[in-house]
Amino acid sequence: MPAITLVGAQWGDEGKGKATDLVGNRVDYVVRYQGGNNAGHTVVIGDQKYALHLLPSGILSPDVVPVIANGVVIDPAVLFEELRGLRERGVSTERLLVSANAHMIMPYHRALDKVTERFLGKGRIGTTGRGIGPTYADKISRTGIRVQDMFDPKILRQKLELALNDKNQVLTKVFNRRGVDLDQVFDEYMGYAEELRPFVADTSLELNKALDDGKTVYLEGSQGTLLDIDHGTYPFVTSSSPTAGGACAGAGLGPTRITKVVGIVKAYTTRVGSGPFPTELHDEWGEWLRQKGGEYGVTTGRNRRCGWFDAPIARYATRINGITDFFLTKLDVLSGLERIPVCVGYEANGTRHDEIPMTQTDFHHAVPVYEYLDGWNEDISHARSFEELPKTAQAYVRTLEEMAGAPISAIGVGPGRDQTLELRSLV
Ligand code: GDP
Ligand code: IMO
Ligand code: MG
Repeated sequence: MPAITLVGAQWGDEGKGKATDLVGNRVDYVVRYQGGNNAGHTVVIGDQKYALHLLPSGILSPDVVPVIANGVVIDPAVLFEELRGLRERGVSTERLLVSANAHMIMPYHRALDKVTERFLGKGRIGTTGRGIGPTYADKISRTGIRVQDMFDPKILRQKLELALNDKNQVLTKVFNRRGVDLDQVFDEYMGYAEELRPFVADTSLELNKALDDGKTVYLEGSQGTLLDIDHGTYPFVTSSSPTAGGACAGAGLGPTRITKVVGIVKAYTTRVGSGPFPTELHDEWGEWLRQKGGEYGVTTGRNRRCGWFDAPIARYATRINGITDFFLTKLDVLSGLERIPVCVGYEANGTRHDEIPMTQTDFHHAVPVYEYLDGWNEDISHARSFEELPKTAQAYVRTLEEMAGAPISAIGVGPGRDQTLELRSLV
């Protein structure tokens, strides 16, 4: 009954889509447990490239049951559009299961996400504008609308009325925006109900039964550890728990069910949106990494901020998630450097820190302390075993592994399905 959780160990975009695809033919269920269509997961199969936002990447593996679990927030129009897009490309989508307890992103959530960001000015978080934060805020405030509410028109109307009483005041009186029309949004969401119905299930029950039957469940995180609402660089975070603990709550599985936690980490670091990022490069090397690594957002198309590998962050991810194995991606991008800087600690306000400082104030001021590892010139994208890597690339991997505090079990040397060196099985 293996249940494997995949978590981003940095600020997202570590290559979760590719990692999930790699194990696609060895698992029975692939589950999204948090986030929504703020995610952008890329899967490259041959000459075909897929960008998944709300659907688990496992939908591309024909024998996998893809699951959108209770912890996810769902924008129904986006879900149907994504399903349609995949069907048009010949991907079968009817196996999908959607939790009756997942929360719905409503039009006022999207409107509030955009307008609050605008009002934050320089203090903005740089959200994806998809309504994620306001939807989770309503969930916690107990004014959210769940998938199951779509199937009880009286309840849906009642809940919408209550929500709009409040939201329309805020939209019109605080932000000077148009309010949302109750009848219009009611009709729109009732329209989604029938299209959604065939997919809706008690996904927690299904997953627990599957584990009892000896099936393999793979929990695909979105975002990353440093974007976690509790453990990330708050307030510059997303509004859910991408970390391994969040997988249990977000999928309805007990912690004792989880058998492995795979942390996915890039051989350097990127971040989209605002917030502290000690190893960020503002010089030509940042641009070099961006261009070489193709570091442009899958969801918003924004330039990703780029910097060197940050070991205290990887170690932090190991600690917060209980990572048992790392998947190191994008090692190929670093080919061509004479020496590769790796951050081993920080100086902040006159103090040396070996771990992430306790306060955000110190982290904002953290100046990286670098060690320099030997680089390599060879193109490694054709390597298919660890031994085929240049000795200095092997040493880079081994040093990162030691610093991160968990074994590196897989290494990415390109975006393609076969461009992975799996040193130990990830499932
Ligand atoms: P995710 O959000 O974690 O799924 O990651 P994204 O898809 O947003 O960004 C990762 C990008 O890196 C995608 O374009 C992948 O195709 C690509 N990628 C993943 N692994 C590797 C790798 O090992 N080498 C290279 N060069 N690209 C990779
Ligand atoms: P994947 O799953 C990178 C960032 C946004 C912003 C912050 C809050 O592809 O790794 P939100 O819209 O979630 O309220 O925005 O989080 N962010 C991501 N950054 N990858 C992601 O997903 C992200 N999802 C959200 O840029 O800084
Ligand atoms: Mg992404």
